[in-house]
Amino acid sequence: MTIFEELRVDHDKQRALIEQLEQTHGDEEERRDRFAQLKVQLKHHATEEERYFYVPLIEHDATVEMSRHGIAEHHQLDELLEELEEMDMASPGWALRFKALKDKMLHHFEDEEQSFFQHAGKIFSESMKTSLGKEYRQAMSDNGI
Ligand SMILES: [Fe+2]
Ligand SMILES: [Fe+2]
Repeated sequence: MTIFEELRVDHDKQRALIEQLEQTHGDEEERRDRFAQLKVQLKHHATEEERYFYVPLIEHDATVEMSRHGIAEHHQLDELLEELEEMDMASPGWALRFKALKDKMLHHFEDEEQSFFQHAGKIFSESMKTSLGKEYRQAMSDNGI
């Protein structure tokens, strides 16, 4: 599979976790479990995506800005996750903040899938698309995902 297909598979996993989290209420076990899963998925996805997608793109002038933008959004997502971790899951504030995380994540995935992948598609050679995909997936499984 190409790097684009691999990244999309993991976006779908995170979109599914977000949907499941939205069905939960208060400080229940399901919410804690799903949130812990989402955190691990997002953290490793962002790191390996930076290594196997954004870093190779930074080497090209045409995709420097786009890569900076993507990595800056990873940082914002990290901060939202940290904020949520420190909040009481049963509070109305948690649900509100979670909505902010959801909106930011969905927007970020949309940017990547609808725009960044197309730009990257013109930069990476066919063999690079596949080898980056393999390396990304290998790194994710080394992380236990
Ligand atoms: Fe990303
Ligand atoms: Fe991504």
